[in-house]
Amino acid sequence: MRIAVVGGTGFVGSHVVAGLLEAGHELRVVGRGERSAALPPGLQVTHGDVVSGEGLEQAFEAADAIVNLAAVIRERGNQNFLTVNAEGPARVAAAAQRAGVRRLVQISAVGADPDPAFPYLFSRWQGEQGLIATDLEWVILRSSVVFGRGRGFFDQLARAISLPSPFLVIPGDGRALFQPIAAQDLARCLRLCVEDPERARQVYEVGGPEQLTLEQLTLEVARAIDREWFGISRRRPLHLDVRLIRPGALLMAKLLPDPLVTPQQLDLLGRPNATRLDAVRSCFGFDPVPVRGNLGYLRRPRRWPKLSA
Ligand SMILES: NC(=O)c1ccc[n+]([C@@H]2O[C@H](COP(=O)([O-])OP(=O)(O)OC[C@H]3O[C@@H](n4cnc5c(N)ncnc54)[C@H](OP(=O)(O)O)[C@@H]3O)[C@@H](O)[C@H]2O)c1
Repeated sequence: MRIAVVGGTGFVGSHVVAGLLEAGHELRVVGRGERSAALPPGLQVTHGDVVSGEGLEQAFEAADAIVNLAAVIRERGNQNFLTVNAEGPARVAAAAQRAGVRRLVQISAVGADPDPAFPYLFSRWQGEQGLIATDLEWVILRSSVVFGRGRGFFDQLARAISLPSPFLVIPGDGRALFQPIAAQDLARCLRLCVEDPERARQVYEVGGPEQLTLEQLTLEVARAIDREWFGISRRRPLHLDVRLIRPGALLMAKLLPDPLVTPQQLDLLGRPNATRLDAVRSCFGFDPVPVRGNLGYLRRPRRWPKLSA
């Protein structure tokens, strides 16, 4: 199939692109064009912006299906929850209709919620509604947190743990449950959604085969990167009230181009991010890999956060 992948240059996108190419599909990667280096040889970014809508229709011409991965978890200027997450999917859908493409697979997030109390989750729900309202053959794939090579949640956690501290700082009680799914497994679910017309107008939730609390995940990452801090290799968790961490997160969000955590992300760390344990097997017919024992890819030299120029 000819598939246009919006957001194919991102963390999840790189795995999706690899999986679709391996399955023999012909791809057009669509984005704002700022991350071309991340693509496999021979692929280039075709300009298309889900905020302005520019370039989308042309980018979708002659495609059999569209995958939309574009979303932001950190707001910056006009790249925010409203413009990208809430309104972006409807803009992609409108451009798909103009280009005559019927099939559209949208990645969303477990926890997408009509309650505006959590702006990120609310924006994902709004984005879904923008698609559901159309007569396209849409599929929505809500994912729990994703692990795998690239700059995702686990990479961020590993960077936070690498900061010089005698403790593993855990925001709040650390009891919220997460169900990490491997990026390749998510990419496989997504490919099955694209390929199978029978999946049209379905909302799926996916996660890996284990549910771990934020504290367990933090310990798992600490074990994986196996980094000593002045001879202390098994650091103890220290639970800090989110209200104490928030000012630091606010400051980082203002000063750093790539902050370790933003205030909105802090709030999300206290929310459960899990679905049925057998979600992938029952909906997609295969067993996803567990996160435990599969975080070795995080071992690599220390990278400190940089100050904004
Ligand atoms: N990572 C996770 O743990 C996780 C968990 C659940 C769901 N998801 C979902 O998976 C999807 C991908 O996430 P990710 O972690 O891979 O994020 P990411 O690395 O930040 O990638 C986001 C992608 O979206 C593109 N993009 C951003 N703004 C755009 C715009 N205005 N127009 C067109 N493209 C735009 C980016 O390309 P340019 O910057 O070049 O435009 C990039 O390719 C998202 O929908 C996310 O919510 C991820």
